Amino acid sequence: MHDSSYVRIVEVGARDGLQNEKTLLPTAMKIELIDRLSATGLPTVEATSFVSPKWVPQLADAADVFRGIRKASGVAYPVLVPNLQGYERARDVGATEVAVFTAASEAFNRANINASIDESIERFIPVMERAKADGVRVRGYVSTVLGCPYQGKVPVTDVVRVARRLHDLGCYEISLGDTIGVGTPAAARAMLHAVAAEVSMDALAVHFHDTYGQALANILSCLEEGVRVVDSAVSGTGGCPYAKGATGNVASEDVVYMLQGMGMRTDVDLDALVATGAWLATQLGKTTESRVTRARTTH
Ligand code: HMG
Ligand code: MG
Repeated sequence: MHDSSYVRIVEVGARDGLQNEKTLLPTAMKIELIDRLSATGLPTVEATSFVSPKWVPQLADAADVFRGIRKASGVAYPVLVPNLQGYERARDVGATEVAVFTAASEAFNRANINASIDESIERFIPVMERAKADGVRVRGYVSTVLGCPYQGKVPVTDVVRVARRLHDLGCYEISLGDTIGVGTPAAARAMLHAVAAEVSMDALAVHFHDTYGQALANILSCLEEGVRVVDSAVSGTGGCPYAKGATGNVASEDVVYMLQGMGMRTDVDLDALVATGAWLATQLGKTTESRVTRARTTH
């Protein structure tokens, strides 16, 4: 039976986090990060991206990272693929789950993947076909769902259209991304409500960046609306290199702390997650963005 108190956390720190960090972590350290994350009880640990290394040099070692991680049983390790070339690279190293990504705004999509929304979806069709034949699960991301760094406002109808399209193509879950972290709780909730009228809530996830400090509040309003899958990044790292001004994702430690306080279940060991976040911040030579990790490690 569906347990409405369970929230699945999709940990994106090793991908969304590291793709935007100035400090390039050595491959062995990325592997250690992913292994530590999967030992905390996280059910999904996004591992890396098979995108163009010219566009995202931080993740140029995607194949070595993927090959090197311990594939813990019961943990999913999705990887981003922008096109068939990325899909093939991911399959060469044994990936069994991939994520395709597009946006609700044309200008952001052009800057991020050098394609219009329609062109990007055309590129996904062969990926979806191959994935279906290979038994590979495909997640879909829609970026800029609450605002675009180039066009500003993004009509909710555009978000609904793109989310629906990805779902119709066969993505088992659609992650709705506030790429630049400009959303506020009522807008986030209204956007989710509108998408859920077209795509079942069971197939939706939310993905908030914390640029304006609104991410936890946005997550809470979306939980109230019924979503049960939340993307977050340990230590609140990262952002998107093609979304100027965007800061990191909401910190996983802070999401787990909030959910525990609400009596919701994540099956994540918060102490282990805090230790991993503190360790990662040290490796990156910066202060963690997680308030929980700061509170627990500085006293
Ligand atoms: P393009 O330059 O238009 O691609 O880039 P192209 O097809 O013309 O190919 C150009 C070169 O790239 C060729 O190499 C290809 O082989 C190579 P060359 O002949 O010049 O040596 N190439 C590849 N190499 C490796 N792997 C591949 C690949 N594809 C082509 N898969 C492209 C188009 C999509 C490739 C590029 O724009 C790209 O890689 N963009 C990725 C940008 C990115 O990763 N952004 C961050 C992730 S999205 C995000 O963070 C948002 C999210 O978190 C949700 C949210 O917060 O909203 C998901
Ligand atoms: Mg993101």
